[in-house]
Amino acid sequence: MPAQIIDGMALAAALRQDVADGVEAFLAQGGSRPGLAVVLVGDDPASHVYVASKVRQTEAVGMRSIRHDLPAGIDEGTLLALVRKLNRDPAIHGILVQFPLPAQIDSAKIVDAIAPEKDVDGFNPLNVGRVASGAANGLVPCTPLGVMRLIRSVRDDLAGLGALVVGASNVVGRPMARLLLQAGCTVSIAHHLTTDLARRTREADILVVATGVPGLIRGEAIKPGSIVIDVGITRVALSSGKTRLVGDVVFDEAVEVAGAITPVPGGVGPMTIAQLLANTLTAARRLRT
Ligand code: GUN
Repeated sequence: MPAQIIDGMALAAALRQDVADGVEAFLAQGGSRPGLAVVLVGDDPASHVYVASKVRQTEAVGMRSIRHDLPAGIDEGTLLALVRKLNRDPAIHGILVQFPLPAQIDSAKIVDAIAPEKDVDGFNPLNVGRVASGAANGLVPCTPLGVMRLIRSVRDDLAGLGALVVGASNVVGRPMARLLLQAGCTVSIAHHLTTDLARRTREADILVVATGVPGLIRGEAIKPGSIVIDVGITRVALSSGKTRLVGDVVFDEAVEVAGAITPVPGGVGPMTIAQLLANTLTAARRLRT
């Protein structure tokens, strides 16, 4: 029997509706309209597309979106000054500096400068530490938190399951592993130096793949009945001259083996921005108290 397809579009729409309802309730209780500042440096085409989408969706749930576009050549001090100004601005509840940044800017310095209580990406070291130690007062990176919602849409109790995260990035893989650990899973992380990857993936009840290597995971490498989450999204050229978005998992093979699986596109991607909106509402609520 083919796997259940986890519909990220529908789950993201439901989360956006929850956020919109939460914003209304927050305003009714006398809170000020949550504001998300998005800072875009330079003219990376993919970043422009992401930022436009973030702005549109922020406004659609009733929050304010404040966009700052800066030229590619700006110096680090100028960006730091903007971040500090946003930190002090009471109308701003969330700050997101879109990555990648130009080479002359030290991304770590920028992340360090964002006020932890407004760090809706969850990249500031204080929030990284809070997630790692299981503290409830941190802000959690959007993609891994969105993935937890996708997994829980098909299985709520994850205690005792074996989880493998393929990819050890700070943005997805590492925080993902920490969240799965908190959910009671026995967690491993595989990365580009891992040997015999298929042997390990075949043992995983939950497999989260976030490598950006299209087609890395074949159907034969998947445990029958497992939950497979594909975070990868790469645009590849077809022989017809057209392009297509593909994941790290060979979907047509994996769907015949897994118990539940996310498609690409339409799986993890939509959930990430919806989770950003949820994080912004969380930040606004905490800043009020
Ligand atoms: N660039 C690609 N993904 C992300 C993300 O999740 N947050 C930020 N700030 N930049 C990104």
